[in-house]
Amino acid sequence: MTTIDELRPILLERIATTLTPRDVLKVPEIKQLYAAIPTLEPTERGAYGKAVNDLKILLEAAVARRETELEDSTIEHLDVTAPWDLNAIAPALLSVEQGTQHPLTKELENVVDIFTRMGFEAIESRQIDDDHHMFGSLNFPENHPARDGYDTFRTEEGFIPPAHTSTMQNRILKNGKATLEAGGHIAAISYGRVFRNEDVDATHEHTFYQCEGVFVSESATLGDMLGTLQSFFEAYYGQSLRIKTQPGYFPFVEPGLEFAIEKPAALGGKPGDWLEMLGCGMIHPNVLRAADIDPGKYQGFAWGGGIERLVMLKYGIEDLRYFESGKLQFLRKFK
Ligand code: PHE
Repeated sequence: MTTIDELRPILLERIATTLTPRDVLKVPEIKQLYAAIPTLEPTERGAYGKAVNDLKILLEAAVARRETELEDSTIEHLDVTAPWDLNAIAPALLSVEQGTQHPLTKELENVVDIFTRMGFEAIESRQIDDDHHMFGSLNFPENHPARDGYDTFRTEEGFIPPAHTSTMQNRILKNGKATLEAGGHIAAISYGRVFRNEDVDATHEHTFYQCEGVFVSESATLGDMLGTLQSFFEAYYGQSLRIKTQPGYFPFVEPGLEFAIEKPAALGGKPGDWLEMLGCGMIHPNVLRAADIDPGKYQGFAWGGGIERLVMLKYGIEDLRYFESGKLQFLRKFK
């Protein structure tokens, strides 16, 4: 007679491969194992009987597993997110040439590249933030009407999808404090997606991109800022440019300015066509204080502006909505 140990692997293998696993429980070899019990010495019956039972339990579990497996394999897989029927023969892979970098990604890389070469560290901004970074640390008093100017979204929990990249200023300042106090300076840009609860039209989007700059040292001046910005725009457009500023109000800078460039002739501009590109100014003492930096000893400048505006001017794009539209006709122009 076949022993329990010999039988176990044979039957498990049969269960795992047959389409009718339950029949395996009825094979004569198992009946023979039970039939042998009364023929044994009474002292051996207990241990032997338990071993036969254990085998039975093991086989039944294997049968149940195999039955589920067989059931599952008859169900057709359905993935509603797949671009083709998963049960059909898979189509050939899409060629990588079908995809391109989004124009904003490409141009953002240009922007980051220019500032990095000028010595600025580049940090991606956050897409979810809080009231402190959006307003409090930026010298917006509680309930101040200037808060309304930012058409801020808010989650039910009170979080804020940032309405500008200035939310990163406090973090940049805190991170750079030690370097500053060791005799160095803070030079960083932060770039990323921002959100405003606005009606969408050719020049307004609920979702757009900004790039922020922060520079702090013992001697930074407004002149340094204007030089930095002019150098950036000239590098980005690859030509000399005239610049102009006018006063602008932002609670986190004093003085605050709006910065404009003259539209280059090569891009269809006429002398006197001024385009406002960003907001900037000397960092307000309260903003330095919020990062525990002594405004009596250190001073700095900051700026922030939209990326789309830069790109629209460069390529003569007339409608801001193209960027978020996913229109292939538009995207393929930037291949
Ligand atoms: N955060 C401002 C805006 O989005 C721009 C700005 C940045 C102004 C830094 C001054 C200094 O409107």
